Amino acid sequence: MKFFIDTANLNEIREANDLGVLDGVTTNPSLMAKEGITGESNIKKHYVDICNIVDGDVSAEVIATDVAGMIKEGTELAALHENIVVKIPMIKDGIKAIKHFSNEGIRTNCTLIFSPGQALLAAKAGATYISPFLGRLDDVSTDGLNLIHEIRTIYDNYMFDTEILAASVRHPMHIIDCAKIGADVMTGPLSAIMALANHPLTDIGLQKFLADYAKGNK
Ligand code: G3P
Repeated sequence: MKFFIDTANLNEIREANDLGVLDGVTTNPSLMAKEGITGESNIKKHYVDICNIVDGDVSAEVIATDVAGMIKEGTELAALHENIVVKIPMIKDGIKAIKHFSNEGIRTNCTLIFSPGQALLAAKAGATYISPFLGRLDDVSTDGLNLIHEIRTIYDNYMFDTEILAASVRHPMHIIDCAKIGADVMTGPLSAIMALANHPLTDIGLQKFLADYAKGNK
């Protein structure tokens, strides 16, 4: 299972990368805005900065919503660095753009996936990754993990190469459940990744080991 971090914050990206388990980064326009990164040239520079930290796939999202605009923007983003994956929204023109990039050998991440049908269509178009937003489905009282299950079944039935990138992950149990289902990738906040390491019995056990060592080695 690949671990991506879902942020545009360079310090958080460095911290996750330093852990040695980071396989990539996802961003979106909201995450860029949250870090105060605005303007085309600043945004592009920020993508390059991220690529220079992490040796893995970095999703860079297009803003255009028409096929010609998405192709122009996506081509420019892909040229920034070999690790860039062009992130395209699941809309009609987005499907056409994904097909174009697939033919050109440019990798894509189809974002804003909320149904199995959308995931099927994106795979048919040749998306490298699809991003089902499980947390946002949970937010509206719909089982987000069930969507990951359904997509896994469909992709396995037909041996699609498209990777399921579970997105909108909010906490460590989302990560564990996605791993049980067989999502290829998860992208989540640093807090969820770090929380996987915690267990009170680990802390208690370590304290006892150290105390016992200290007693015998005075
Ligand atoms: O990768 C998609 C993700 O950024 C959405 O997460 O928490 O805003 O639903 P969230």
